[in-house]
Amino acid sequence: MLIVGISGSPKHEKSNTQFLLSKTLEAAAQTYSETDTEPIETLLINISDYDLRHCTGCDTCVRKKPCPQSELDAMHTLEEKLREADAIIISAPSYFTSVPGVLKDFIDRSRAMKMLNHQLKDKVFGAITYAGLRYGGQEHVIDVLNRYALGQGMIVVGSLGNPVRDGTFGSGSLQTDDGNWRSAANDELAIEGSVLLGQRVVNVARRIKHQGAKQ
Ligand SMILES: Cc1cc2nc3c(=O)[nH]c(=O)nc-3n(C[C@H](O)[C@H](O)[C@H](O)COP(=O)(O)O)c2cc1C
Repeated sequence: MLIVGISGSPKHEKSNTQFLLSKTLEAAAQTYSETDTEPIETLLINISDYDLRHCTGCDTCVRKKPCPQSELDAMHTLEEKLREADAIIISAPSYFTSVPGVLKDFIDRSRAMKMLNHQLKDKVFGAITYAGLRYGGQEHVIDVLNRYALGQGMIVVGSLGNPVRDGTFGSGSLQTDDGNWRSAANDELAIEGSVLLGQRVVNVARRIKHQGAKQ
C-alpha cells in the first residue's frame, strides 16, 4: 500500500503544513491491523520541487489527448507517482483563504488525469491545512481541496477521533486563542487531527483494497 502526501507550501522544511503532513504519513505508516500485514509505504512530495507550467486552457485533455505542457515540464513524473498511490493526502497553507498558486497549478494540470479515464478514481483522499490567523480561512482551504478530490472521483475522508475534542481534519493556526504565536509543532490539536487523518486514510484504503480484491 502506498500513501502519497503532497505538500502544497513553498516553504519546504520550514512549512507548518508540511510538518503536519509528515505526522500524518508517520501515523499512516504505523496504522496497525491484525488482518492486514501488507507494509505501508509513504512518500512525501514537495510540489514546489517540481517545475510545473500553468494550465493554458487549451482543452487538449478534453479531446482525450495528452497535455502538451507535460512534454515540457515535470507533471508526468508526478502523475506516475499518483497513479501508484492507494491514497493521496494534500496539505496546503491558507493563502488569502485559498491554496497557494504552486499547488493550484498542479490541481489545474491534473485535469488531464480526469479527462483521460479518471486515473485518480477511488483513491482515498485527505486534506490538511494551517493558517496564520485563528480564523484564517482553514475551512475554505479544506473545502477547496475536498471538492478537488471529489471532482477527480476520489473518496474523501476526514479525521475520526474523540467527537468532543477532535475536528474533522488536520488544521490549526499560528495564532493562539490569547493572541500569541506558535508553530504547528506546538499545536497539539493540529498534530492530533493530522495523526487521526493518517490512520483513517489507511483504514479506509485497506477496506477498499480488500473489497476490490473480492470483485
Ligand atoms: C501569500 C500569503 C497569503 C496568506 N493569507 C493568509 C490568510 O488569508 N489567512 C491567514 O490566516 N493566513 C494567511 N497567510 C499565512 C499562512 O497561512 C501561514 O503562515 C501558514 O502557517 C503557512 O503555512 P506553511 O508554513 O505550511 O507555509 C498567508 C501567507 C502568505 C505567504
